[in-house]
Formats: sequence, C-alpha cells, structure tokens
Amino acid sequence: MKINKIYQGDCVKVINEKIDDNSINLIFADPPYNLSGSSLNLENNKTGGAYYKVNEKWDTFNYDDYVSFTKNWLKANHRILKDNGSLYISCTQHNIGEILVEARKLGFKLNNILTWYKLNAMPNITKRTYTHSTEFICWFVKGKKWIFNYEEVKVLNPNKTKSGENKQMRDFLDFIELPIVQGKERLRGKSGRALHPTQKPERLLELIIKASSNENDIVLDPFFGTGTTGYVAEKLKRKWIGIEKNLDYINIAKQRIKEKKYD
Ligand SMILES: C[S@@+](CC[C@H](N)C(=O)[O-])C[C@H]1O[C@@H](n2cnc3c(N)ncnc32)[C@H](O)[C@@H]1O
Repeated sequence: MKINKIYQGDCVKVINEKIDDNSINLIFADPPYNLSGSSLNLENNKTGGAYYKVNEKWDTFNYDDYVSFTKNWLKANHRILKDNGSLYISCTQHNIGEILVEARKLGFKLNNILTWYKLNAMPNITKRTYTHSTEFICWFVKGKKWIFNYEEVKVLNPNKTKSGENKQMRDFLDFIELPIVQGKERLRGKSGRALHPTQKPERLLELIIKASSNENDIVLDPFFGTGTTGYVAEKLKRKWIGIEKNLDYINIAKQRIKEKKYD
C-alpha cells in the first residue's frame, strides 16, 4: 500500500485490494448521509448555492442499499484499523442509527459522540420542525489501548476564564462550535460556486487528528472529497491515505494538498 496518495475508486474495493490488515492508526470517515431524496431535482442541483444544499447522485440510495453500503464500508475499515486505532465517523440524525448498529455488530466500542454545533446552519424555511443545526462525529475504538492526547486537546479548549486559563471541569467537551466552512477556507470554482457541498472544517480535523494520532502515524479517509483530512494530516506531520470515487474531487484535493496554504 502507498502512503500520501489518493486512490481513485470505491472505498470498499480499494481497501480490500490495496490496504494491509491492522495498518492504519486513525480513520476519519465522512460518508454520504443519504440526504439527497429523489424528490430533489438532481439535474438542477444548487451545490454551492447560498446554503450548500447537499443534492448529489453519490448521496442517493434506497434504504436497504444504504444499510448494506454502511455495513460493507465499516467492515472493510475494521480490518485495516490497528488494535489501538480510532475510527471517527461524521453523520447526522439521518444516518447515525445505521452507523451505531452496524459498528457495534462488528465489535467497535463507542467512546464518544461529539456534537458539532454549526454556528451558521441553514435557516428553518418550513418552520415545521426545530432548526437543524448539529452534526455528530462518532468516535469508535477497536481495543482498550486507544490514543487520546488529552494535553494536546486541552490547549484547543475554547472555554477560557477571563485571565485566559482553561475553565476547571471544562477542559474539553464533546461539544464543538464551528461554522460551516466559509470565507477563504471554502474551495470555490471560477463562478464562485463551492467546489464540494460538504467540505469539512479544518479545525474539526485538527482536533481529531491531534487527539487520536501521533506524528508519523497513518491517517486514512475513505471518502476523501476535497481532501480536508490529508491536508490537515500533512500539516500536522502525519502520513495519510485518501480514497475517493470522483476524479474532479481528486484533482481538487491534490491541488489543495500540493499548495499547502496553511495559516
Ligand atoms: C461527504 S463527502 C466527504 C467530504 C470531505 N470530508 C471534505 O471535507 O471534502 C463524501 C465523498 O465520498 C465520495 N464517495 C461516495 N461514495 C464513495 C465510495 N463508495 N467510495 C469512495 N468515495 C465515495 C463522494 O464523491 C464524496 O466526495
């Protein structure tokens, strides 16, 4: 298997063919959430519009297919994760149920469910439910010796006293407040449209990679998209492997990682 490389293809196939058993320290997976219903007009999708609506063919499954898909990619990732490794999975209320059930069947232990409160979430247009403003990141481990770099994570704590000290008992919560990616971090084409509807915040990946891996460890992302995981892994001196089906996204990720525009 090769490191610091993006493999093109279906992640289950690529993992089964190319990635060694028990070889990966940390996996961050941001799978399709199956949000893009058939009632949404996929032909006129508004990716990159004002609110980055997810309306993509790669995100459309019937229910049974979605359950099989979840089971298959989780199984493939379980095989390659080291016994002291961590698997973080990004999800929402739409797919958290399937993820929790299928991961438990494989023997993964759930350590935390992080809640990401999106400071600039989509407004509540229908006014028929509470406003959706959160996503979840489930942190699973395989064995008992998982890595958690508490001291490194502690300094990222936004909860400070007036004198700048970390607040006692609030060293780091399972609750993260961050905007949906915007400003210069958001990758855009010439027309100004976002290049990917679900680009994840670099700060989120920074937290996860610092917390659950060490320098030179291998971080794998089976749904690489714009390569946020590889970009941040490289910045934090980790090795990385990306897998992505879509060649356009691969080219965006390659360029981003090559440019190294770190703050
Ligand atoms: C939710 S997005 C990930 C976005 C990414 N975290 C980022 O920051 O840009 C999911 C990605 O998985 C890709 N994808 C969907 N099914 C896949 C599969 N079976 N194997 C590999 N990639 C897949 C899609 O093309 C899409 O880019």
